Amino acid sequence: MIVVTGCAGFIGSHVCECLLELNIDVIGIDNLDPFYAEDIKRKNISTLLKSKKFTFLEANITSTETWNEVKKYNNIEGVIHLAAKAGVLPSLENPAAYIDTNIVGTQKVLDFLKETGIKKMVFASSSSVYGNNVKIPFSEDDRVDNPISPYAFTKKSNELQIHTWHHLYKIDVVCLRLFTVFGPRQRPDLAIRKFVQKIENDQAIEMYGDGSSARDYTFIHDTVSGIMSAWNYVKNNENVYEIINLGNKNPVQLKELIATLYEILEKTPNVIQTTMKPGDVNITFADISKAQKLLNYNPQTSLKDGLIAFVNWSKKN
Ligand SMILES: NC(=O)c1ccc[n+]([C@@H]2O[C@H](COP(=O)([O-])OP(=O)(O)OC[C@H]3O[C@@H](n4cnc5c(N)ncnc54)[C@H](O)[C@@H]3O)[C@@H](O)[C@H]2O)c1
Repeated sequence: MIVVTGCAGFIGSHVCECLLELNIDVIGIDNLDPFYAEDIKRKNISTLLKSKKFTFLEANITSTETWNEVKKYNNIEGVIHLAAKAGVLPSLENPAAYIDTNIVGTQKVLDFLKETGIKKMVFASSSSVYGNNVKIPFSEDDRVDNPISPYAFTKKSNELQIHTWHHLYKIDVVCLRLFTVFGPRQRPDLAIRKFVQKIENDQAIEMYGDGSSARDYTFIHDTVSGIMSAWNYVKNNENVYEIINLGNKNPVQLKELIATLYEILEKTPNVIQTTMKPGDVNITFADISKAQKLLNYNPQTSLKDGLIAFVNWSKKN
């Protein structure tokens, strides 16, 4: 049995589905945080709720009561910790909420692991910890002491916080630095989902900056396979603290992403250029050699194939 925090979110719901397919019991925790619509999150977990192997706790990870409830279950092997306040721009508006969920919430997970002696964890960190790193591709050995958003600061803090608990209490952890994940059920605040909706409704889309900013877009199935490999790695090894990039090693410029979406949706481009937003980085580009070596991670999905899968899902939903 594995605890998955953030089970009703984009990535969490896919991870839970994968675990259930592998016949693994799951306790999913999510407070259906209002960062985006509750009905989207309820829809994300609707398939999971049909499984007898899935237990849903609608609860806040920052609450001690939540973890007291989890302690009642036997045979828990570890925690895949995905719950967080995500999103760069909103973190500028309400940094305290990010510190609460991301740092205090993560502390509760670590306390639970320490107190129960369960000691196995996979954590979703973020490529945003690299800030405006000038060296590309981004490697786990690069210095990441210059975050440029409160969100990035919380994720970097989490890596330090988790290392401390690994050192003191022998908790085995893989921190995965995820690079812009996309695909069916993508968060509605993220560019691809917003763009597709607008293009389908014949509305203009806003391009921040001149379109030369680039992201290492990673398809959800590749991310989930990396998370599962990280889980197996942490489960089968002792004295583990690893930070590992999970990206696609193929940054794509914003203008290319937009052009590909117009091509797939067979619409005439209608793009308004606006300024870059504070906190946004210029490029993300993952060196994935560590993931390849330790996790046998090999992303399979091209941007175009992933976008087609997303558009097909979006049309049905
Ligand atoms: N999507 C990406 O591109 C991306 C990139 C880098 C890192 N990440 C990280 O991956 C994880 C999952 O991201 P996502 O895109 O699926 O986001 P998401 O917002 O869809 O999922 C996060 C889930 O956590 C839940 N949650 C938030 N606060 C909570 C709390 N206090 N208690 C319980 N549940 C709470 C939310 O309700 C939500 O369902 C996050 O930690 C995020 O920071 C995501």
